[in-house]
Amino acid sequence: MSGRKLDQLYRQVIMDHYKNPRNNGTLDDESVTIDLNNPTCGDEIHLHLKVENEIITAAKFTGSGCSISMASASMMTESIIGKSEKEALKMSRDFSEMVQGHEHDVIDENGDVEALSGVAKFPARIKCATLSWKAMERAIFEFEGKK
Ligand code: FES
Repeated sequence: MSGRKLDQLYRQVIMDHYKNPRNNGTLDDESVTIDLNNPTCGDEIHLHLKVENEIITAAKFTGSGCSISMASASMMTESIIGKSEKEALKMSRDFSEMVQGHEHDVIDENGDVEALSGVAKFPARIKCATLSWKAMERAIFEFEGKK
């Protein structure tokens, strides 16, 4: 696929997650909730995780932000459900490497997350893309700290 076609495909994937966010909402029985904002713009995310036997069994989010941040939150929640906390933290590290243009392992099975790789060309948007992933990391650390 040409670079231009790939860019178009990635744009479509991002807009689909932005317009039809997966796992948007709250949980009744969450293990942990984290509220995090992007200090550069004030946009925020509220992330709810349910963790059972170290597996993330549910993840939902609400918040307000740009298309990159909200699409990223949708992709992040979709990709971590069913994963262990350790796997989710590794995915977050790989995601961070990807949006900085560095080598990284495959992050999610359906490949949607890769659509945000273009963020590496726009350093000002890296914080938008990583907001929900940082929230997920904090949620896991807080939950583990409470045990
Ligand atoms: Fe605020 Fe992207 S501009 S999170």
